[in-house]
Amino acid sequence: MSTGLVNAIYLGAAILFILALSGLSSNENAKRGNLYGMLGMALAIIATVFSDAVTSYWVIVICIIPGAILGLVLARKVKMTQMPQLVAILHSVVGLAAVSVGYATYLDPEMHFVGTEKTIHDLEVYIGIYIGALTFSGSVIAFGKLSALITSKPVLLPARHTINLIMLLVVIYYGVEFVNAESLQQAWFPLTVMTVIALIFGVHMVIAIGGADMPVVISMLNSYSGWAAAATGFMLTNDLLIVTGALVGSSGAILSYIMCRAMNRNFFSVISGGFGTTSSSSSAAVAEVGEVHATTVEEVAQLLLDAKKVMIVPGYGMAMAQAQRAVSDVTRILMGKGVHVIFGIHPVAGRMPGHMNVLLAEAKVPYDIVFEMEEVNDDFPNVDVTLVIGANDTVNPAALEDPGSPISGMPVLEVWKSKTVVVLKRGMATGYAGVDNPLFYKDNTRMLFGDAKTNMDELVKALS
Ligand code: TAP
Repeated sequence: MSTGLVNAIYLGAAILFILALSGLSSNENAKRGNLYGMLGMALAIIATVFSDAVTSYWVIVICIIPGAILGLVLARKVKMTQMPQLVAILHSVVGLAAVSVGYATYLDPEMHFVGTEKTIHDLEVYIGIYIGALTFSGSVIAFGKLSALITSKPVLLPARHTINLIMLLVVIYYGVEFVNAESLQQAWFPLTVMTVIALIFGVHMVIAIGGADMPVVISMLNSYSGWAAAATGFMLTNDLLIVTGALVGSSGAILSYIMCRAMNRNFFSVISGGFGTTSSSSSAAVAEVGEVHATTVEEVAQLLLDAKKVMIVPGYGMAMAQAQRAVSDVTRILMGKGVHVIFGIHPVAGRMPGHMNVLLAEAKVPYDIVFEMEEVNDDFPNVDVTLVIGANDTVNPAALEDPGSPISGMPVLEVWKSKTVVVLKRGMATGYAGVDNPLFYKDNTRMLFGDAKTNMDELVKALS
């Protein structure tokens, strides 16, 4: 394929990636956005494989076929609730690719640069390997935390900020040594030391971040994986990889910022770690607030039938129980009986951005009754019944009322301000952040214990 044609296809693919990102910004267009992304990627792969840069098709076949099979198996097997872990481990692969390409480019005997070009090339290699290595190890730790293989609590070394600063200074020092190196023998040591430090830094950075901040970490690693891909693009002089990496890097950075705002957290305090270590006074607060009022499906059905306005607040438990279709059925029945039903969605409900929106869209809940937290938070005093379905941290009043709580300052859906709150969960377990929830002990709260899907199915029967 001629270089001109390859570049034209790359341009088309880049436009499709931009359309994909813009499509993904709303529920209605998300499917189309995904299709644009898939088409763009297919074009990018075809143009690259048939470009002059590829000299051996066997290597491509040997890599693509097992990769495609693994991808297909994973995509079919992974449950919606395991998506964040999958995303984290995929980020680690991008990081590893950047490290491999960095070393391969540096060792490539055909790469001969002199003067300024050599300095630029060496910097690309050094920075690319650095970002790639920390994305790789950080994403592996994020995967471990999200799949509960590693504690979700922050693991903090004494003087961790000093350790990070020393590591950064050593990386800069060896960066200068690397760029000034005259031969491979001289360059080898600085490059290896930097790679090891970047790997340690990735582990150290993510392991220090507490469970409640993991949403920000996922989007931050997403951003890093984009920059790692862009660095790979510079090393391979592949324009499409640079553009795509920059798109992923900047959209991940914007998402991290949005997440931080949603959780009322400062980005730098998130990445410096330690959030969630504050010893919570909420256990004591919970002990004081009294008893739990358990309820039954029949009582909840009656409450809903007597209500004029109902708000449904879903959380991770709805995803775990796969209760979204039953939730959709209850919504339809209530609307048919003239009840005004709306949904309130917290930006970090579930385990990935937009988790609840995806499930509700899949269950055919109309988009126009699904609202973001800011749109409905002032509305709770006008709500007769709020159904909290498997949400916990995102409806925890301690975030606003208990300055000692690890989630203090995070905006939450103020469900307790409605006339009655019904919480569907299996027991009194805490949510992801491991914080007790005083909501369950409030006088206007009723607990409907049990699996959310079983109870919602029963509710459908009781209402119909
Ligand atoms: P969580 O606070 O995690 O609480 C979920 C609740 O669902 C649990 O308390 C659990 O209680 C209940 N549950 C689990 N399985 C259930 C089932 N089968 N039926 C009924 N209930 C069930 O959920 P949330 O309010 O959505 O908050 C999300 C949390 O995850 C936040 O802390 C957030 O920071 C964090 N996080 C979010 C993301 C993103 S990007 N969204 C990523 C990583 C982490 P029982 O065990 O008692 O049933």
